[in-house]
Amino acid sequence: MIDNVLQQPGMRQVSPRLFRRLSLAAVLASLALLASGAWVRLSESGLGCSAWPACTHHRLVAPDRYHSLIEFSNRMLITAMAVIFLAVLAAAIARSPRRRDLLWLSTGLAIGYAAEAVLGGIAVLAKLAPALVAAHLILSLVILSCATALHWRSAIPDEAAGKRPEPVLPQPAMLGAYGLIPLFWASVVMGTIVTGSGPHSGKPGTPRFHLSLGGMVQIHAAIGLLSYGLALGLLAAVLAQHCPPPVQRRALAVVVLLTLQGALGYSVWFSAFSVIPSELHIAGAGFVLVAIERFNLGLLAHCGRPGSAGLAEAPPAPSGYEVPAVLETAEPSSAANAFLAFTSSLTETRSCGV
Ligand code: HEM
Repeated sequence: MIDNVLQQPGMRQVSPRLFRRLSLAAVLASLALLASGAWVRLSESGLGCSAWPACTHHRLVAPDRYHSLIEFSNRMLITAMAVIFLAVLAAAIARSPRRRDLLWLSTGLAIGYAAEAVLGGIAVLAKLAPALVAAHLILSLVILSCATALHWRSAIPDEAAGKRPEPVLPQPAMLGAYGLIPLFWASVVMGTIVTGSGPHSGKPGTPRFHLSLGGMVQIHAAIGLLSYGLALGLLAAVLAQHCPPPVQRRALAVVVLLTLQGALGYSVWFSAFSVIPSELHIAGAGFVLVAIERFNLGLLAHCGRPGSAGLAEAPPAPSGYEVPAVLETAEPSSAANAFLAFTSSLTETRSCGV
């Protein structure tokens, strides 16, 4: 039936390029919401507006007060995010050709958003119980992960999307790369336990986990350091195997972001939980997630064997394994070129999963 509607004269179909742009908006909106939700909690502005959807019973928009403005801005962002996610879902339906993977991920975003709204409401009713606040943060990262996968997959050409992906690295290194994912989520779960045991509850007098704060931080930091060690090893493997430049850049991005994330984590601890490093550390978790996910997705190529019709030649494969076909083989010659290559890679369709 939807197909009949879409075939009516005057109905526009969504191009792959427009869909990719919309999926990028979903990634950016998810990152913005993570940062803004964290700031609402860290600034204790959760009850800055006393009514819904108007800010107070007498005013639609926030009065000129700090907490009300923060809470109201967050609500505006949540509304914008709903519009973006609905647009992505509508675009996945109207995309020509329609792809099942993109449709599933877009539906996942919409369901995740609805679940997040319900969970947020329950967390407020439960007086910001730390387990619910933790689940709220974890779900926002799950939504970001879904948006990142959607954005990535929207760059895979339609004819290659159904192909069985091929690993770029030898199996032990691939296992190491997959290992970054559970380590990331373990680190996030421990981070929420640290927060639930620490001072940033969102409101004075909120229930706490009553666990040893120092002990929780030690476990959390140990997982973070383990991820860091693994990421360094993977960067070395990617360089030693002469992997394509985009794969090397993504491995480097994971190492750099984990370095910053660790530095921010220690700043939170040594500054006795100052809010600015805490905010950057929580937002940083979003960037680390995007980097780890893109690195892992980039290790699976969807474009068949080297020399396939329509694909650029791959660089010579190092002995021991076969490199799938790769388009992006040219190294940018300057910082400006590198920046241009990065920005266009966010909106252009790749000719290969790598
Ligand atoms: C893989 C690296 C890391 C990731 C992904 C990560 C992630 C997180 C996340 C998501 C939270 C916030 C949870 C919430 O708001 O409920 C958090 C909190 C925290 N993390 Fe990390 N972290 C990492 C490494 C570290 C390291 C190395 C330290 C060093 C001590 C650290 C110290 C802290 C502290 C003190 C908090 C509590 C912040 C607060 O309550 O405001 N983290 N972490």
